[in-house]
Amino acid sequence: MTRPSLRLPYHQGTTAHVSSIYPFSVQGSFGHLGTYVGLDLLAGGGEFCWDPFEAYGSGLVTNPNGWILGEPGNGKSALVKCLLWRQAAIYGSGPDGRWFGIVDPKGEYAMLAEHLGLTTVRLSPGGTTTVNPLAPGPSTDHEPEDKQILRRAEMCTALVGTVLERALTQLEDAVVFAAVDQITSSPVIEPTLADVARLVASPTETMAERLRSTDRDLAAETSTVAYALDKLLSRSLRGMFDGRSTVPLRWDGPGVVLDLSAVPLDSDALPLVMVAAAGWFQQLMACPGPQRVQILDEAWALLRNRHTAGYLQTCFKLGRTYGVANLCITHRASDLVAQADDGTATSKIAAGLLADSATKVVLRQAPDQLDAAVAHFGLTGPEASIVGQLTRGRALWKLGGRTAVVQHILGPGEQPIVDTDARMHGTARRGADAA
Ligand SMILES: Nc1ncnc2c1ncn2[C@@H]1O[C@H](COP(=O)(O)OP(=O)(O)O)[C@@H](O)[C@H]1O
Ligand SMILES: [Mg+2]
Repeated sequence: MTRPSLRLPYHQGTTAHVSSIYPFSVQGSFGHLGTYVGLDLLAGGGEFCWDPFEAYGSGLVTNPNGWILGEPGNGKSALVKCLLWRQAAIYGSGPDGRWFGIVDPKGEYAMLAEHLGLTTVRLSPGGTTTVNPLAPGPSTDHEPEDKQILRRAEMCTALVGTVLERALTQLEDAVVFAAVDQITSSPVIEPTLADVARLVASPTETMAERLRSTDRDLAAETSTVAYALDKLLSRSLRGMFDGRSTVPLRWDGPGVVLDLSAVPLDSDALPLVMVAAAGWFQQLMACPGPQRVQILDEAWALLRNRHTAGYLQTCFKLGRTYGVANLCITHRASDLVAQADDGTATSKIAAGLLADSATKVVLRQAPDQLDAAVAHFGLTGPEASIVGQLTRGRALWKLGGRTAVVQHILGPGEQPIVDTDARMHGTARRGADAA
């Protein structure tokens, strides 16, 4: 018996047209490991799956860090929210699954936090939530006292340096260190920034001896530091970081959302809040634990300041050591260089951060940003032209040396988690009225 064959009418065409049906122009699949993201448009619309740890495990990328770039409203946050939601479904959440740490400057992760049971820490100047960046964290057991002193002193100098908008002088730096050293070796279990400020304003004899100065001279010379700390505690950060923590820093949950929406995005206080909050978060990230995913939404705000940019740098470097995947979200490629307040130092950190992230997801960029995207994300000419024409939810993914164009597909029930347009179409008001 002969096999039935497909009979088609004879067709003749030129190579210009027939090349479009060349079957081998479709690339292979990236595999099924990770969570479903959407359709891989360069692989014939097949499924595209991704997970930072799986991609690292399979050798596709050399580190678990990534940047997500795109004009506002194109679906950057929506992509991240769905990825976390789906990761929790596949890998579980909490100590036996994934732990999520989210820095949320717009307060838009509330619904996801509710669905995943994440603790939301809402910081606002003069508010009721206090976080103590000097509190002993879960890493205390793994952290010798000298390391703890260094971490605390680094945090205090970063805060003072941010207020003064300059690096500290040697003596200023030394006095902060001496105050932190003194308070850490004292019997006080949970020192606060207010304790450090008190010691800096009136140094003890031990501190003066150590700095080879009389205590009155010392106080006069370091009054700038004392004023800066006072400004922090009584004005910019009032109520947020000046006392003992009112929220526990714990592992045994699925994660934490740091809601910073009460601090205006362009205010002087935001970099300070980010420095202090980052120090608090760092304690969780820099110790062994479950696989963690840290999300830094609107990361351009972190890149405005040398200290917060330095925090990102530490996170990226420690990512592999402690099993943390860092995902930063920002608008434009030029954010990575233009935000720097002190010229080259911060720009260099930003350039290093990009180089240290093996995964780059680029959503639509405005025409004037394409050159910057090509320069900083290493896009080819055809890739850049794709990026200029992408529609909402569609992104160019660069994974190690490979490229995909992926349409993120929202699942049934995911729309309310990702919806940031509610106010535009009036559903937020109706929802609030109904509640
Ligand atoms: N893949 C998608 N499919 C359908 N709607 C989407 C998709 N991605 C995002 N959206 C919608 O677009 C709006 C803006 O998305 P958002 O993630 O907040 O943008 P961005 O973070 O880039 O500013 C949201 O209300 C969301 O519901
Ligand atoms: Mg967003």
